[in-house]
Amino acid sequence: MTRKTAVAAATVANLGPGFDVLGLCLEGPRDTVTAELTTDGLVTLVDVTGPIEVVQKLSGDALQNCAGVSAKAVLDAFAPGAGVRLWLDKGLPLGSGLGSSSASSVAAAVATAACIDPRMPKDFLFSAVREGERLATGTPHPDNVAPCLFGGIVACLHGDDEHVDLVTLPVPRGLMVVAVKPDFEVKTADARAVLPKEVPMKDAVRNLGAMAGLVKALATSDFQLLGRCLEDRLATPYRKRLIPGYDDAVEAALAAHAIGAGISGSGPAMFALCGDRDDALAVADAMVEAFERRQIKARAIVSAIDLDGAQVVS
Ligand code: HSE
Repeated sequence: MTRKTAVAAATVANLGPGFDVLGLCLEGPRDTVTAELTTDGLVTLVDVTGPIEVVQKLSGDALQNCAGVSAKAVLDAFAPGAGVRLWLDKGLPLGSGLGSSSASSVAAAVATAACIDPRMPKDFLFSAVREGERLATGTPHPDNVAPCLFGGIVACLHGDDEHVDLVTLPVPRGLMVVAVKPDFEVKTADARAVLPKEVPMKDAVRNLGAMAGLVKALATSDFQLLGRCLEDRLATPYRKRLIPGYDDAVEAALAAHAIGAGISGSGPAMFALCGDRDDALAVADAMVEAFERRQIKARAIVSAIDLDGAQVVS
């Protein structure tokens, strides 16, 4: 039986003004999925490994786990009638805002596809990985799975139905990302529930201008302009109340020379962009200390932007 293993990394979605649109891929942490094709037509989650507090919250029922749903969508599209056995090793925390469900969905789709055809283009898997996201959050939002699958900084252009086109944005040399995860969970579905159905026109206008500036800033490595273009008015004002210490952490990041900071995905993780590794290390310490001053433990990841996305490793 063909057996393949793939890895897929954490992501920062809702980057700056790009609510549901812009995401970037980190170098880690990663989820790892091994897939083995079968002829029984079943999707089976053989084992889930990782930290006990993570594993015990995940369903062993493959079709209640985004890895299983995503693998099934790949089979349905490219190997109807086949089955797959999956082994999932969780490297990402749950409910973190770092794209945990996406990493499982993407690693499972890439591993399963590699069993079917090692040359299958990643483009073919985009619909399948969004099904994993639909199971996990109720919405097949694309801004975690896209950078997770393809790497880099990706913009998602939403069509009238669920169709999404992807645009890859330039990644400035030296740009570093800090992701800080306070020690509590926010479920994406809950973070979506606090969003208003409509937003004030002046807030939409602010985000539009910021998005234009952000694209130019990335293309020209203009970190000063980038810093002026990372504020979000569509989701952050409503969601930051779910993150005690949010304002303090942003203030600490900026005082330590971050380019800008905000909520990573649906939180509670926060991100900061930095111009080099030394700044990123200082910003990480400052943001962790800001949470700890409120008796909230927090952990930081310092990462470059991964340009390759999910990979088959064996
Ligand atoms: N764009 C999604 C949301 C990302 O904010 O709900 C979730 O990580």
